[in-house]
Amino acid sequence: MNVEFYERIWMWAAVGLIAIFMGTVVGLAASNAVHPPSHMETIDPGALADSPEFSNPGVIVRSDGSVVVTVVAQMFSFSPNPIEVPTNRPVTFRVTSADVDHGFEIFGTNANSMALPGYVSQFTVTFPKPGNYTIGCNEYCGLMHHSMVGMLVVTDPRSSR
Ligand code: CUA
Repeated sequence: MNVEFYERIWMWAAVGLIAIFMGTVVGLAASNAVHPPSHMETIDPGALADSPEFSNPGVIVRSDGSVVVTVVAQMFSFSPNPIEVPTNRPVTFRVTSADVDHGFEIFGTNANSMALPGYVSQFTVTFPKPGNYTIGCNEYCGLMHHSMVGMLVVTDPRSSR
């Protein structure tokens, strides 16, 4: 098969671009430790009030020092708010939605997940730097989507208060 010289250049240029784009995605995901959150666990979004875990979402410190945060997203807020966690401790988030699809992104960190009705998204993050981090919903969920924000407060438990 005879392919024109210039057409061959463009074909290889297209292949090269795709390779660069794919490499960028894979490379950045690896270097930023981005991992897809689990959506393996199901839950009845209409019965969160009866769920021992999600009827009263909040921060739980386990006996081994690890921290679990249960979060319910709903139009147009996150519960609890603010979320207070310590620095340098693995924090496992368990996030679900009471109504429609929401996002749960902690800006300035690699914590980013969807909050879907019917599913529990779970991921674990360690926050080395104390401070206030804004939590945003990054899935369009309705008229007040832009105002759906929360706050994560990370404090160093060793510092005096
Ligand atoms: Cu919730 Cu956008």
